[in-house]
Parts: sequence; C-alpha cells; structure tokens
Amino acid sequence: MRQLGIDLTDRVLLRNPYPSYAILRQEAPVYHVVEDDLYVVTRYEDVKRVLKDHEFFSSRGMARLHDAGLGRSKDSRDAALEAFSEGLKHIRNVVTSDPPDHTAQRKFLANRFTPRQIETWSVGVRELVEGLMQQLVEKNLHEGRVDFARDFAYPLPLLVIADMLGVPRELRMQLRGWSDRASRFFSGAPLTLDVQHASIALTSFFAQQVAQRRKSFEEGTASDAETTDLITLLLKQNPTDDPGSVLNDGEIVQTCVLLLIAGHETTANLLGNMLHALIQFPDVCRWLEREPARIPDAVEEVLRWDSPVQGMYRLTRTDVEIAGTRIPAGKMVLAMIGSANRDETVFENPHLLDLDRKNKSKHIAFGAGSHTCLGAPLSRMEARIGMEVFLSHATSLRLAGEPERVEGNIFKGWQKLPLHFDVKR
Ligand code: HEM
Repeated sequence: MRQLGIDLTDRVLLRNPYPSYAILRQEAPVYHVVEDDLYVVTRYEDVKRVLKDHEFFSSRGMARLHDAGLGRSKDSRDAALEAFSEGLKHIRNVVTSDPPDHTAQRKFLANRFTPRQIETWSVGVRELVEGLMQQLVEKNLHEGRVDFARDFAYPLPLLVIADMLGVPRELRMQLRGWSDRASRFFSGAPLTLDVQHASIALTSFFAQQVAQRRKSFEEGTASDAETTDLITLLLKQNPTDDPGSVLNDGEIVQTCVLLLIAGHETTANLLGNMLHALIQFPDVCRWLEREPARIPDAVEEVLRWDSPVQGMYRLTRTDVEIAGTRIPAGKMVLAMIGSANRDETVFENPHLLDLDRKNKSKHIAFGAGSHTCLGAPLSRMEARIGMEVFLSHATSLRLAGEPERVEGNIFKGWQKLPLHFDVKR
C-alpha cells in the first residue's frame, strides 16, 4: 500500500480536498493512515460497497468516532471525555446499528419521512423561509451585508426540525448553539469539552421534552399541537408497558438529538455550498433567477459537486479485500463520499458544475444501501424552497469578506459566509 503523505486533516487541503482525492483514487484507492490506523476508501464503487455491505462493514463504526476521528488527538483526553465517549459506544440508534436491529428502528422513522408526508410540510417551510428572508433583506439594508451562514443557512433547517419535533417556539434558538457545537462530534473536528457539554445539554433538553409529553399523553392532557409532533408520535408508537416497543424513552431522546444533528448542520452546509457555488458561477446564478424551475437540478448537482457530508465511518467485521488491499477485521474505514461523487469513471468532467449532467442523480451524497439518508426528501425540499425564496428577492451576489469553512473533514460547508446582495424591486 502506498504512503503518499496526504494529510486529510490539513486546513489548506480541506478548503479544496478534491485534487487530493483524485490522487488517492488514482494512486492509493485504499489509503492507510498509519497514525490513526484508519483506511480511507475513495473510488465510487468501493465507497458504495463499504456503505452498503453490512456483512463486512458494520455501522458500529459510527459509534466509535471518538476513537477514530482522523487526526484527532488521542493523548490529550480527560477522564470526563473518556467516560462520555465510552457511554456513547453503547447508545443504540438508527445510524449506529446493523440489521436486524436497524431494520426495526428505521421502519418507525421511515413512516414519518415519506416524500408524501414531507410535501405536507412544504407550506409551513415556505412561510418560515419567507420570514427569515425578510429579516435578511432588512439586515442587508441596514448593515450593508449579512452572514448567509449565520442568518439564513443555519437557522432554516433548525427551525424546520424544531417545528417537526414540536419544540416550543421560545426555546428554539436556545437549541441552535447546542446543536452547532454538538454536531462537531460527527464533523471530524477536534473533540473539546465544549462539544461534550453541548451534547449533554441537548440530551437533557430532549429528556425533559420527552418526559413532559409522556406525562401529558398518559394523563390525556396533551394539546392538539403536541399530539401531532414527532416526539408524541414516537411515544404513542412505543408504550412503556408494551414489551413489543422498539424504542424506550431514552432511545426516543437519542433519536431526537440524532434528528436535530443529522438534519441541521448537513442541510445548512448544502445551502451554504449552493450559495458559494452561485457566487463562483454568476452565469448559473442568473440562469436560476430567470428559470427557478431549474433550482432542483442545481440542488442535485451541488450535492454531487460539493457534498455536505464528505465521508462516513464503518468498522470491518472480518478481514476483507477492497481494490486489491486487504483490511484486517476490527479496523475503521472511512468511505469518502465527496471523492466518490467526483470519480471520473462515473461522472464525465467531474469537476465541472453542470446542471444538465445526465447522470447527476447517481451521486451518493445521501449515502447508499439500507442506511441511505432518511431526511433526503426533507433537505431537498428545504434547499429548493430556500433558494427559490432567496433568489426571488436577491440579485448581484458578492462576497463581503473571507468565508470560513466548517471545521473537520466529515462535514463540508461554511460557518461564515459574508455576503452583499441587491434587493430586487
Ligand atoms: C443535505 C442534507 C443531508 C445530507 C447530505 C445527509 C447525509 C446523510 C448520509 C450520507 C447518511 C448515511 C449514513 C450512513 O450510511 O451511515 C445519512 C443518514 C441519515 N440522515 Fe441524513 N443527510 C442530510 C439531511 C438529513 C435530514 C434533514 C435529516 C432529518 C431530519 C436526516 C436524517 C438522517 C437519518 C435519521 C439518517 C440515518 C438513516 C439510517 O441509518 O438508516 N438527514 N444522512
């Protein structure tokens, strides 16, 4: 196996990792990062296999991120973080489980995320986005600039998920800070005590919400709004006294945390990456302003071209061979989705942002196989409505300062995106 000295945690590389991925696909399609004892897989077919083939690659790998984080410091951990990480290894949720456990858990959630169900939320999402846009226009008017990430891309998905979960309005923005920080757990960025505290705060918050709902549900005092939110539905489907219940209340709490983290940072990154692409390619931006019906094509192509989730972890169950390289049992594998989506053997001119690309939906930005993203229709809808509303009010987009990339090598997006725009009359 060749060692190429490519450091996938290097900040400069991470601004544009695609040339390094291309070298890896060509020269070392299974790249062993010796210091982390981690195997990085970069070709499309191989990445897809790692994501899909749970006989060989277990999703328990996702529960061992703290051990596996590429380049994370393993010697400077304190005892509290160690205990916290150890606890996380034992949490069962849909992301970290394998069939048959996974199948039952997923079935529950899948019923809430059907494209038809998602479509019923579109009116509410549009209202919410219009409200955010109004604030953005006012800020642009008064301050001459906005931060697209802070003022639009991050709040949008947070408000949508909070609405779905039935989190009271006055508590929603409180969630934002915790969610931003807790999601770093999955981002590949250094693990700090701050991340741990945010994860605990988020868990306690949902533990309280679940307990309150359980009580009012059992006492028959739940309000109409509460009876349709996702937390209440999960509680109803999993009565405490029924041995057939798939999730206990603790697992329902974990599911809420998971949905918030899985759906917040990822969709925010998609929106930020779209905006950044439109600034880089003003012709595409003008085209979409004229023909908003092409926005779904732009969403799809940006998902491929600059994937918000660049990689997913798996743990090998037995010895396995990929692209001629043997990986022993019990090793962490990083399936590099961001690289697969730029694989030249699948996508012609892969580095080109091409809205007319014939096979753009072949991308695996939402994963592949039985763990494929449950929130994909929701995030596509949020991105479509977000861009439709934004481009119907804003034009002549230009950067108003240096953008700042999200930390780590798992999420790719912008945590700061200073922007000027003109308001359409
Ligand atoms: C652009 C936005 C998004 C991207 C790029 C994305 C990406 C992904 C990927 C790559 C996976 C596969 C995980 C694996 O194979 O281990 C996944 C799973 C998942 N996503 Fe998303 N996601 C997005 C938005 C959302 C939203 C909005 C939600 C829900 C509110 C969500 C909920 C989930 C859940 C529950 C899973 C686990 C499914 C399973 O393990 O069976 N995601 N996502």
